[in-house]
Amino acid sequence: MPSTLSPKPSFDFANFTFGVQATDHMLLARYKDLDWEDFQIIPFGEVTLSPLSMCFHYGQTVFEGMKAYRMIDGKINLFRMKNHHDRLNRSLRRMAMPEVPEKLFSEGLKSLISTEAQWVIDDPDYSLYIRPFVIATEPRLGVDAANEYLFMIILSPLKAYYAKNLKVKVETEFIRAAHGGAGFAKNGGNYGASMLPQRLAKKEGFDQILWLDAAERRFIEESGTMNVMFILDGKTLITPPTGDTILEGITRDCILKLAPEQGLEVEETPVAVDELTSWIQAGVRVEAFGVGTAAVISPFESISYLGKSYSTYTGLDAAMYGIKQRLTEIRRGILQDNRRWNYLL
Ligand SMILES: Cc1ncc(COP(=O)(O)O)c(C=O)c1O
Repeated sequence: MPSTLSPKPSFDFANFTFGVQATDHMLLARYKDLDWEDFQIIPFGEVTLSPLSMCFHYGQTVFEGMKAYRMIDGKINLFRMKNHHDRLNRSLRRMAMPEVPEKLFSEGLKSLISTEAQWVIDDPDYSLYIRPFVIATEPRLGVDAANEYLFMIILSPLKAYYAKNLKVKVETEFIRAAHGGAGFAKNGGNYGASMLPQRLAKKEGFDQILWLDAAERRFIEESGTMNVMFILDGKTLITPPTGDTILEGITRDCILKLAPEQGLEVEETPVAVDELTSWIQAGVRVEAFGVGTAAVISPFESISYLGKSYSTYTGLDAAMYGIKQRLTEIRRGILQDNRRWNYLL
């Protein structure tokens, strides 16, 4: 454990951009000779790597995204820590990278967050974003799994991620993931390949892309860094089932469990884009939204498909807001955490 605590940061918590500011410390552990060394908590700063390091060439990079919250009783909550650790290891296995042992992950993260506790301020709209990642560092050219890796955790303050409702475009030219690929993993390559379609969609005035399945280009998969959900006439929540092409979102899992408590029926079922647009045209009240750690719930205000825009419901009585509220209250310790999602420090 570190001997000193971070001083209270001289940071403007009221006014900042997500992702550009890291906290004062970071965690670092190396993997070599088939083993992980102990973690170190060190001042945030640059790391030096050989240009031969394999992460620069062959894409063996994996990351996670989770959050720490300040509860109303003052404790710090590392929300669903175990699930994030499990998913990190699922991604690592797919990329032939060494798993991060449970003890290294949880002890390391607890130590880092204790050091940076003053960055977890008491504000319902605020959280400290946690970015664990593993990269191949072995200095060797040649397409092969590396033998040396670096595991790091860095932290960055976060307020509302998307401040506005999103205009999304159903992507019909590019695809994100195919069966047998690595779509379910949080490896860097999945995100790298999405940059061009995302840029092109932005140029057309859209905020996000809605990916379709690779085989038929018909079924909605996910969106950017979010799983997608729809609520029909305020009664039924539908969402595509996860598989090897869709990331198994932890927010998605929370919402599927909380929606019935909000009186909704829940169905994990393939959602065909042509059916969705025909429901909207037929007057079904469709709420559409992305769900993920960063944004929690991001309402879509319209879905554009083959050049036509379909408006989705974002009125104040939309059911999605109630579910978001419920999730926020569990994380803050206002509602009871019956499923033991909160990991308290
Ligand atoms: C591609 C993708 N889908 C979905 C999600 C949502 O997952 P979670 O709710 O665990 O953040 C993320 C974010 O991690 C993502 O990157």
